Amino acid sequence: MTQEVAIITGAARGIGRAIAQNLAGAGYAVVINDVLSLTDTVNALTRTSAGTKAIAIEGDVLNASIRQKMVEAAQTAGSVAALVNNAFQEVRGSFLDLSDDDWMHTWSATFQSAVRMSRAVLPLMRARNQGSIVNVSSVHAVGAGEYFAPYDTAKAAMNALTRSLALEFGPDGIRVNAVMPGLIITERNRERWETQPDEYQAVQCAYPLRRAGHPEEVADVVGFLVSEAARFVTGAAIPVDGGLLAGLSETTALWMVQNREQHDV
Ligand SMILES: NC(=O)c1ccc[n+]([C@@H]2O[C@H](COP(=O)([O-])OP(=O)(O)OC[C@H]3O[C@@H](n4cnc5c(N)ncnc54)[C@H](O)[C@@H]3O)[C@@H](O)[C@H]2O)c1
Repeated sequence: MTQEVAIITGAARGIGRAIAQNLAGAGYAVVINDVLSLTDTVNALTRTSAGTKAIAIEGDVLNASIRQKMVEAAQTAGSVAALVNNAFQEVRGSFLDLSDDDWMHTWSATFQSAVRMSRAVLPLMRARNQGSIVNVSSVHAVGAGEYFAPYDTAKAAMNALTRSLALEFGPDGIRVNAVMPGLIITERNRERWETQPDEYQAVQCAYPLRRAGHPEEVADVVGFLVSEAARFVTGAAIPVDGGLLAGLSETTALWMVQNREQHDV
């Protein structure tokens, strides 16, 4: 049987690394990419999934030669069965302070990266009449954060891309879905929340499950979406957000006032 290969962008740390571990655990050979060093991820993969074939391609996913290396590595390892578009970078700020470069930077790394990777793998998936793409979007795709305009709009575009590709490539047996994480504590943001415990506690109160999430909890849903168990799921954007999007913010505000003493917020 052909070895199935999953390509994951932005896998040096955080959610991307957890997704690589999940998919390696499910038996995929993984081609991982990041602008940062992938050594720790490769070590983690070797530790948690002995016998995993992990190919690290370091470099900018926006760069055509890096994408070509990823695709070639994947084809050498087996057949491209899954692509997870996870890489992102963002610039935040007041709308009037953001430059064209700020917008381009966020949109390129967060959205255009997914467009280009999808364009690179879809012909291979189409040739096999099967494949699964998962876009790591965000709750910001449907709700705005203050000073997050480039990120909010890039993630909304990612959800729209998910629907467009699902529609166009469904007849080719290719499924395209998105996950929308809420706050997930990763290496990138841990220090910010640890050093501001009051803010952290207040934010967690907005979540019906009253906590932030873990990278593995996003990876589990991605693992489901690429798997055979999700064979009739396409074009979906699934919140992985502890219920954040289910609630109205006025309800959260009220709850916090009513529970101010009990929860010290
Ligand atoms: N952590 C959260 O709270 C949260 C919430 C919602 C959505 N998300 C989404 O989850 C994904 C991962 O987020 P994270 O928190 O793990 O952040 P992260 O910064 O740890 O992971 C993103 C990775 O992408 C890499 N990257 C950036 N630009 C790249 C490029 N051009 N080429 C290759 N690699 C590139 C970065 O180096 C980084 O390792 C992102 O798409 C993010 O929008 C995260």
